[in-house]
Amino acid sequence: MMLVMRLLRARVKHAGSSPQCSAKRLSSAVPGISSCSQQSCTDTDHPKVLITGGLGQLGVGLAKLLRRQFGKNNVILSDIRKPPKHVYHNGPFIFSDILDFKNLQKIVVNNNISWLVHYSAVLSAVGENNVSLAKEVNITGLHNILDIATEHGLRVFVPSTMEALGPSSSSDPTPELCVQRPRTIYGVSKVHAELMGEVRDTHTHRTRFYVLTTTTGLGWISAVSDYAVQIFHAAVKTGCFECNLRSDTRLSMMYIDDCLRATLEFLEAPADALVSRTYNINAMNFTLHHLIQEIQKVLPDLKVTYNVDPVQQGKADGWPTALEDSAARRDWGWKHEYDLSELVQTMLTHITTGNQLAQAY
Ligand SMILES: NC(=O)c1ccc[n+]([C@@H]2O[C@H](COP(=O)([O-])OP(=O)(O)OC[C@H]3O[C@@H](n4cnc5c(N)ncnc54)[C@H](O)[C@@H]3O)[C@@H](O)[C@H]2O)c1
Repeated sequence: MMLVMRLLRARVKHAGSSPQCSAKRLSSAVPGISSCSQQSCTDTDHPKVLITGGLGQLGVGLAKLLRRQFGKNNVILSDIRKPPKHVYHNGPFIFSDILDFKNLQKIVVNNNISWLVHYSAVLSAVGENNVSLAKEVNITGLHNILDIATEHGLRVFVPSTMEALGPSSSSDPTPELCVQRPRTIYGVSKVHAELMGEVRDTHTHRTRFYVLTTTTGLGWISAVSDYAVQIFHAAVKTGCFECNLRSDTRLSMMYIDDCLRATLEFLEAPADALVSRTYNINAMNFTLHHLIQEIQKVLPDLKVTYNVDPVQQGKADGWPTALEDSAARRDWGWKHEYDLSELVQTMLTHITTGNQLAQAY
């Protein structure tokens, strides 16, 4: 209880100086008050959004953000899995397998979809163990999405990842344009998506493609397999953490809310401001040592031991520690809001206050 009070006090203090205090952020942060209600716009001004793969780490949070902005019924989550109860009751959800082209067409037509956020994917580790599934979902699935978008003049967003880079890509920071020779089927499929998006955008008039390459998204209820998330849970629950990376390992991260807000801002940017269809976005990087020091400011008793796993360490050492994102900052005003100290306060607050908040997502 003491910890909750300490964290909440720090959050309130921080809120006074945070960029989240701007009128736009405040209105969208208060449930039920969307910026639209203040601007008295109607449903016809709103895009009708379909999110594929919406039950993954990013989809539910994005749906929540978009529903505040455009109205609950204008954002449809879809996936091939059964949604948890709170997701099912929070807004429209439908079954959609992106490999079923006819069904996708039917959903887009029947619901008058105008924006398609394409989150469905087979991620890295699963893809390496099942290359044919990754090829089907990540490449054939993407073509289904692009074909439907072209046919119906949709705005399409596809996220890319640092795994679309490879050992021969320049790093620190990795520029917008560089050699991309990834070593995984997941990374290859993302390079494919970036290039297909650009080519299709050049050859179509009614359709707009948007591809963002982000660093790893870090959220308090997702990515539980990620050390950077596990350490927060361990710090709160047991006070001990065994780390499989060296303490000087530097990784690039972005808080999930920044990542989701970037998606909306990019999709809303005036088309003539965009000189490209693919942009990098970057937020913070820190060493494990710094992360632990920051957590220990709140939880001084946290004990960390090291048992370095050479495979994980090799992977971590291969990641770039920053993406060059000046083009996104210049063209559509991208700006991250969470730095390391804000991230630590937010993660610990959410984990400590627990499941009630989780239900809100
Ligand atoms: N989470 C991150 O940090 C991060 C970073 C960069 C890029 N991305 C990208 O963002 C997207 C979403 O990431 P995530 O972390 O939410 O992924 P996730 O693995 O948590 O979710 C992917 C979803 O796709 C669904 N799916 C799989 N096959 C499908 C099919 N045939 N039809 C419909 N849905 C299917 C799965 O059921 C799952 O819910 C992915 O494209 C990922 O590459 C994520």
